Amino acid sequence: MLKVVVTRRTEEAAGIVGLELRAADGERLPPFAPGAHIDVMLPNGLVRQYSLVNDCEERDRYEIAVSNVANGRGGSACVHSTLVVGTALEIGMPRNNFPLRSEHARFFFIAGGIGITPILSMIRYCNRHGLNWNLLYLARSRAHAAFLEELSEYGADRVRIHFDAEAGCNFDIGSCSGLIPAGVPIYCCGPAPLMQAVVDFSSRHPENPVFLEWFAPAPENADQPPAEGFEVVLKRSGKAFYVEEDRSILEVLESHGYNIPCSCREGMCRTCETGVVDGVPDHRDYVLSKAEREEGRTMMICVSRARNSTLVLDI
Ligand code: FES
Repeated sequence: MLKVVVTRRTEEAAGIVGLELRAADGERLPPFAPGAHIDVMLPNGLVRQYSLVNDCEERDRYEIAVSNVANGRGGSACVHSTLVVGTALEIGMPRNNFPLRSEHARFFFIAGGIGITPILSMIRYCNRHGLNWNLLYLARSRAHAAFLEELSEYGADRVRIHFDAEAGCNFDIGSCSGLIPAGVPIYCCGPAPLMQAVVDFSSRHPENPVFLEWFAPAPENADQPPAEGFEVVLKRSGKAFYVEEDRSILEVLESHGYNIPCSCREGMCRTCETGVVDGVPDHRDYVLSKAEREEGRTMMICVSRARNSTLVLDI
């Protein structure tokens, strides 16, 4: 855990605040790579993950931006109502579930709304290292688009911006094929419908690898098999528990007194990642890569389940 202090608060757009965090002891902060996020322990007891926006070469500060989510679960509302200059906070070490792959020298970024935050750190990295990039930035309206001034300065050949309110409709991701050269990877962060549209696009354009950072669960997936009950065995104690179809492994273990590290409870932060000793996980998270899923060595026990009747976990 790191102790930090809010040293600057800005209104980045309608309903979006920017916060600058510096170490409470004035020391340098741990390094991070573009796409990384931090866990922020909020004054109301919630833990929330926020992407680092700033240039990863900066070691004296972290910068995050938080959208006030209507009807959210209390995290963003707490940020907006309680975090001011001088607020002391504890944060986790930077972690990265959305890294830029070094094998590419050119990138196509798609950001929807507050999804611009990890993308902006990537853009700053690309600029510093002379890497070629383009951005498609989608927002409800000009007033809701954070960091618009900085992004607009790159020019229309680099950054294409779409405001739903001005266009009178959402952007059609299906029309992207003319924008993205074959072989160029797509990095996308945004609301679930946008992410789903990019997933659909990628299934028709496998020549463009896609990397996603989810910050909200996908809409109900009709293709997903219904949850079924199964038994989970804990390797270290040999204890076994039944996981009913309407409960997660995490919930079952917590109900038996286990204190499992967790944060988002939605398969997006990797905090509850647990080793699998035996059995086949039914992965329902948003962070494991295809290769990691196929290996089946770890799983997110807040959402993932079992494909067979018994799962042995390294707990
Ligand atoms: S608690 Fe976040 S992935 Fe499980």
